[in-house]
Amino acid sequence: MYPIAAGIVVQTRELWDELNRSLQNLSVRLLFELSELPPDWAGFLDRIERVRPDVIVLDVTRLREPLEDVIKRIRSTAAQPAVFALNTTAEPAAILDALRAGASEYLYPPLHDALQAALERLSKTREQSREGQKPTGKMLAFVSAKGGCGATTLACHVAVQLPRLVHSKVLLADVDLQAGLIGFLAKTKSPYSIVDAVNNLQRLDQSFWHGLISNGIPNLEILTAPTAPAAKQVLAPQLKQVLAFARGQYGWSVLDLGRNLNGNTLSMLDVVHETYLVTTHEVPALHQAKQMIQYLVDSGYPKANIRLILNRLPKRLDVTLDELEQMLGLPIFATLANDYQALQDAYAEGRLVDDKSHLGKSFARLTAKIAGTTEDKKKKFTLFG
Ligand SMILES: Nc1ncnc2c1ncn2[C@@H]1O[C@H](COP(=O)(O)OP(=O)(O)OP(=O)(O)O)[C@@H](O)[C@H]1O
Ligand SMILES: [Mg+2]
Repeated sequence: MYPIAAGIVVQTRELWDELNRSLQNLSVRLLFELSELPPDWAGFLDRIERVRPDVIVLDVTRLREPLEDVIKRIRSTAAQPAVFALNTTAEPAAILDALRAGASEYLYPPLHDALQAALERLSKTREQSREGQKPTGKMLAFVSAKGGCGATTLACHVAVQLPRLVHSKVLLADVDLQAGLIGFLAKTKSPYSIVDAVNNLQRLDQSFWHGLISNGIPNLEILTAPTAPAAKQVLAPQLKQVLAFARGQYGWSVLDLGRNLNGNTLSMLDVVHETYLVTTHEVPALHQAKQMIQYLVDSGYPKANIRLILNRLPKRLDVTLDELEQMLGLPIFATLANDYQALQDAYAEGRLVDDKSHLGKSFARLTAKIAGTTEDKKKKFTLFG
């Protein structure tokens, strides 16, 4: 039997007494008991995220907001608790309203038997969904130290090559909400973007997700960034939930986070296993890279999960890679040569860089290293990719 953890929000004295009596005989772990919904929704939702109840037993007799909105908010958390509506009356209209608003059960006194049956039903569905859950996949993020260092280029080329190496379905998600280019580079057809996932969190399941993604390349599914300026503002916690959902759907996910690591992007890194910081050898980019590493480390992101990539390396470099590593305080994970023409030619023909070209082979080596399918030699890279 799946053990149920519950949160209780009950104001009516009669219901409170009944509920407490009934719960004494039932094996339910109580996570919180409140007399009413707190006015601070953000704090309350945060609490739900942290303690992860399976159910919230909610007194619906004196709500300040429509029940439908309350349930929507509660269900928008990653914990997605069920909501049992508790009322003093068994009027059919009240029952119908509560169920239409999204309550999974409607309970009224005498509570004990109905509550027990409801908890057993919930326990069964939780058990089934736990059995059906796949282990969460690996999520990688590419971020540019400074605009134009190559995060998008690398994210695209790595994502295209990953499925073959990791033998699983891969997601490429454009989380560069301001200037996402992946839809254009990968020639996707879907009119939807990651913002549609954020705006429909309460409906987010496999079939809804399927309607959002593009899948022209075998085993690679792509979720683009929005193109409409109005759609570019989304809230970080919701975005994080979408990513957490995605992580459960794919063996590997590759994110393009764009050029900035700000408050928004940073909280998303909670669900990201490895962050690939793409820089060039140019002084301003190196300066930004160093600042970004510091910012990440100061914010508690594990330094060991930051992978530094030096892109667009010229044939002649006036510092050594050792010096750069020392300056940045991190080993360089990979280097890629500067090959503007190869990319221009590919894009002009509406494709990605050919695997057989020099740059294409560098992308393949980088992907293999990320996938863990190559053994590191003593020196972890060759100078020119
Ligand atoms: N190894 C490379 N050699 C030559 N040109 C490259 C290389 N990598 C990327 N570029 C080019 O650099 C430009 C910027 O690349 P890209 O768009 O991938 O950078 P970005 O970090 O995603 O930029 P933004 O900050 O605008 O999102 C593009 O024109 C791309 O073709
Ligand atoms: Mg980009």
